[in-house]
Amino acid sequence: MEVLKRLETVSGEAAARIGKSESLKEVEELRVAYLGRKSEIMSVLKQLGTLPPDVRPRIGRAANEIRGEIENLLKEKENRLADDIFTRLEETERIDITEPGAPVRHGHLHPITQTRMEIEAIFTSMGFTVAQGPEVETDYYNFEALNIPKDHPARDMQDTIWTTVECPLRTHTSCVQIRTMEKHTPPIRVIAPGRVFRHEETDASHEHTFYQVEGLMVDRGISVANLIAVMKTMLRSFFHRDVTVRLRPGYFPFVEPGFELDINCLICGGKGCSACKNSGWTELLGCGMVHPNVLRRCTIDPEEYSGFAFGMGLDRLVMNRYGVEDIRLFHSGDLRFLEQF
Ligand code: DAH
Repeated sequence: MEVLKRLETVSGEAAARIGKSESLKEVEELRVAYLGRKSEIMSVLKQLGTLPPDVRPRIGRAANEIRGEIENLLKEKENRLADDIFTRLEETERIDITEPGAPVRHGHLHPITQTRMEIEAIFTSMGFTVAQGPEVETDYYNFEALNIPKDHPARDMQDTIWTTVECPLRTHTSCVQIRTMEKHTPPIRVIAPGRVFRHEETDASHEHTFYQVEGLMVDRGISVANLIAVMKTMLRSFFHRDVTVRLRPGYFPFVEPGFELDINCLICGGKGCSACKNSGWTELLGCGMVHPNVLRRCTIDPEEYSGFAFGMGLDRLVMNRYGVEDIRLFHSGDLRFLEQF
């Protein structure tokens, strides 16, 4: 039985080589060599029909058995090698699942935005609504309607940035007073926070771009007493303590009378320090009773209605609160500064 012998030899040889194989690639090559189409076993099985009928069953059975054995050996070896790969990976490439991940950096709101939102919340709790106006204004809203005629010093080219189409970048948020009174009839209670622009040489307390919050209240019987009450309420909420205010006469063409509102210096408590230049007071905002000319232009009868208005520097407020010494820091984009808030 020449064929049976050959099968035995092949079987032994295959078992030995599979036993010695060390990689999945090698196992694959052995599979081709011993079970592939051109392998010894396959050619025996293919030629089974040409053998004498009396030996055919024995040889067939033997070839199939050997094929099964080799298949098992290959499978076993393959599994073991695959396991080895993972074992080796585990040893060399450790993944520490307890290691903390890379921290996700959170952004946050700019200190001016934070303060603007606080001021909005305080005023809306007093029944004010929040209005907006365009940053590129017309001569009419920025000056004319606010009782600032063509030859007024406030129009000085040094203060105003003009666009090529002769529209000013608004120099204050007071324009929104006019836009509001044109659209609404009293009673009016509105604030208008926003960005304003001045043609300005910049230094620690001057910027070409800064922020204001405008306020306006118009109704029957509004007086300076209402102005003071609203200002005090706002300041108490904002600074979380009672704040002493004082009004000094101040000139703004769109109010009569007009005031500068000071608060007692919150750094020294009014005793006098370098921040308040030893005066004990800090200038905070301009305000006054809306000028009859302004009301009239917006078709509100000054005989029937009166109102107060104020315009507050938001940057100044933030500087006061946090002791920021240079207004230019706000637009510097310097994260070392911003990350403190
Ligand atoms: N618009 C003024 C400015 O930019 C501030 C101001 C003063 C606003 C008095 C007012 C006001 O509403 O009544 O300097």
